[in-house]
Amino acid sequence: MPRPVSGVHVTGWGAYAPSRVLTNADLERMVDTNDEWIVSRTGISERRIAGPEETTASMAAIAGLRAIATAGLTPDDIDLILVGTLTPDYVMPSTAALVKDAIGNKRAAAMDLYAACSGFVYGYATANAYIASGMAKHVLVIGAETLSRYTDFSDRSTCILFGDGAGAAVLSASDEPGGTMGIEMTTDPSGAYLIWLPAGGSARPTTDGSLASGEHFMKMKGTETFKMAVRTLGSTALAAVRKAGLELSDIDLVVPHQANVRIIEALAKSLDFPMEKVFVNVARYGNTSAASVPLALAEAVAAGRVKKGDRLLFVAFGSGLTSGAITMEWTADPAAMSRADGIGPESVKILPGYLGPTNPFPPALEWLRK
Ligand code: ACO
Repeated sequence: MPRPVSGVHVTGWGAYAPSRVLTNADLERMVDTNDEWIVSRTGISERRIAGPEETTASMAAIAGLRAIATAGLTPDDIDLILVGTLTPDYVMPSTAALVKDAIGNKRAAAMDLYAACSGFVYGYATANAYIASGMAKHVLVIGAETLSRYTDFSDRSTCILFGDGAGAAVLSASDEPGGTMGIEMTTDPSGAYLIWLPAGGSARPTTDGSLASGEHFMKMKGTETFKMAVRTLGSTALAAVRKAGLELSDIDLVVPHQANVRIIEALAKSLDFPMEKVFVNVARYGNTSAASVPLALAEAVAAGRVKKGDRLLFVAFGSGLTSGAITMEWTADPAAMSRADGIGPESVKILPGYLGPTNPFPPALEWLRK
């Protein structure tokens, strides 16, 4: 039997955002909206769009390789690869299997985790359980999304919100003090259809009719989602802090899911928690779903907002309705991320499918492709 361990630590972290930028001014030319409305209602100024040669797996693999390098490990040190995504390259095989090949790992188990915007936090919790039980020593947890390919760029209520990207963390066993302290995960199916994608699954397979009516794009009841998000994020965050035996005042930095700056501000207000201790980067990426927490974490560390001994709180919310929060004590050297310098798109290659190349770029953004 494997030996259970006492500590699970984040030893590596990394992110990748594609280079193409879609600004509010670009969206003004596409739908009836304006920069002032988008910024005041969401806090978003721009978002990234994956290039035609990029997929969820390719972005996930770059972020994953960066996290492995930061941890001072090699790809074959990883025992398990978890990819949180709602925009997999294919329904099958899993994106995690493609990532395993792309990073050159020969020995890990690999699987996808389907919890929408909470995908990274759910992945962290799953990795934590594998490590704590002794079943794995190093787990690569990735959140990666190509939401631009499921976005209706004629629907102003959703197309302003979403963007593409990836973030990753390596979790490792260690008997050192610190690491994961408290975990809370919830799912409330009463809101299952507040954010959903109607067609393409087994309940509603893709047909000419579903394509014609745009059922292959994300749909959202924004106002109801907003209210549930604030309520659920608050209760989930508090539960994870209490399970850690802490008070909110013990938390040095909150890294929340980046959906809308107003949701984040309402969360901070409802918890009476200072916004100065909340990391926000939604202005530059929009909502990248499962990628948002690890992308924000990597930026927070790079910006000097995280140091050894800090207590962090990750909290997310998404379709399902899923929610999850992690309280942890940071033990890694922030400077270790320089080990990932030089890792980029040329470092990974995705196993091609046998149907030949296609152009997956959103037709509505054709001008941005060139
Ligand atoms: N530009 C201009 N006007 C707009 C736009 C736009 N892009 N979008 C909507 N409007 C209009 C609406 O039509 C409405 O007009 P009306 O009053 O004449 O009907 C008005 O603005 C207000 O619309 P609301 O939807 O009430 O605006 P709200 O303040 O709720 O903001 C938003 C909308 C930004 C979508 C917000 O509700 C939100 O962020 N919701 C949560 C989204 C979220 O968190 N998702 C997370 C999960 S996503 C996942 O898991 C993949």
